[in-house]
Amino acid sequence: MKIKFFSSKPYDHEFFDQLNDRHTIIYLEAHLSEKTLALAEGVDIVCCFVNDTLNRSVLQGLYKHGVKMVALRCAGFNNVDVDAAKELGIKVCRVPEYSPHAVAEHTVGLILDLNRNIHRAYNRIRENDYSLHGLMGFDLTGKTVGVIGAGKIGKAFLEIMNGFGCNCLVSDPKPLPGVENLAKLVDLDTLLEESDIISLHCPLTNDTYHLINQQSLAKMKPGVMLINTSRGGLIDTKAVIDSLKAGTLGYLGLDVYEEESDLFFEDLSDQVIQDDIFARLTTFPNVVITGHQAFFTREALHKIATTTLNNIDALERGNLDEIALIE
Ligand code: NAI
Repeated sequence: MKIKFFSSKPYDHEFFDQLNDRHTIIYLEAHLSEKTLALAEGVDIVCCFVNDTLNRSVLQGLYKHGVKMVALRCAGFNNVDVDAAKELGIKVCRVPEYSPHAVAEHTVGLILDLNRNIHRAYNRIRENDYSLHGLMGFDLTGKTVGVIGAGKIGKAFLEIMNGFGCNCLVSDPKPLPGVENLAKLVDLDTLLEESDIISLHCPLTNDTYHLINQQSLAKMKPGVMLINTSRGGLIDTKAVIDSLKAGTLGYLGLDVYEEESDLFFEDLSDQVIQDDIFARLTTFPNVVITGHQAFFTREALHKIATTTLNNIDALERGNLDEIALIE
């Protein structure tokens, strides 16, 4: 099959080329959007990532070009208008699970870094400043960790935090089986009120958009640590900045940002950042941001390439029941 691979990076080539000997893959650095739609002409499949645009108008364009399937090489699918794809008869598949551990472990990395100020200590040592003022952390043992969304990643994260001796709370309308052995299931308000650390692991949907806003922030303990490795739209960034300025939000760790598509995955080191909200976020000493890299392990990239190629093989054979379809 002929595939146009949008938003590609050298590491994508490495993992897909190792495993692919049967399909023609044309790698493109461009994001898929209304502006780049013409690049999808004459192919069976477009392979897309988290910041490609797959709204109704792009999907209509893909339909006109004869595209049969959108193969997402990620788990989240909030960037796809699933109803429009269904109406147009374009299949949409994804990689539902590649490494929950990759994301869970990165989440723990953000917590440890923020708590013990490792990012600040790293810079101090490079400047021959061996003082400890401002670097004091807290023991994780005995602290209450609230997890919003206990699916595959949330559960893997809970397993690690249990190992630290934390008391874990979960808010999830449908947690994975076994979560009840790792955490107490509570309603969202209880979680917000009782947690010392809150970590977001639910998908971005109409219901969860700006789940963390002025009202929910007001319910949290003063000094709380908030971590988001899920999707940027879960957080109202302006409200979070207000809480950081007021000192009520003690720490913020982000791997995702609502407007990340103009920033993340690119080297912008010689450019002036136009996003003033993001620029403000980077000024706080108690904020650590990584650029959507929680998934980025060798094991995860191998699984992403394997599952995506299996999805494409199954479409070619007409075995739709073997494809991880979004329905
Ligand atoms: P999953 O589908 O296994 O689990 C999601 C859980 O969230 C489910 O148990 C569901 O019941 C729960 N949920 C849904 N609505 C909720 C709500 N309103 N409140 C609380 N819980 C709710 O998904 P998985 O694999 O654990 O991934 C979670 C999210 O992580 C993805 O949707 C994606 O956005 C993000 N992700 C981020 C990556 C990164 O590199 N930063 C990589 C992979 C995923």
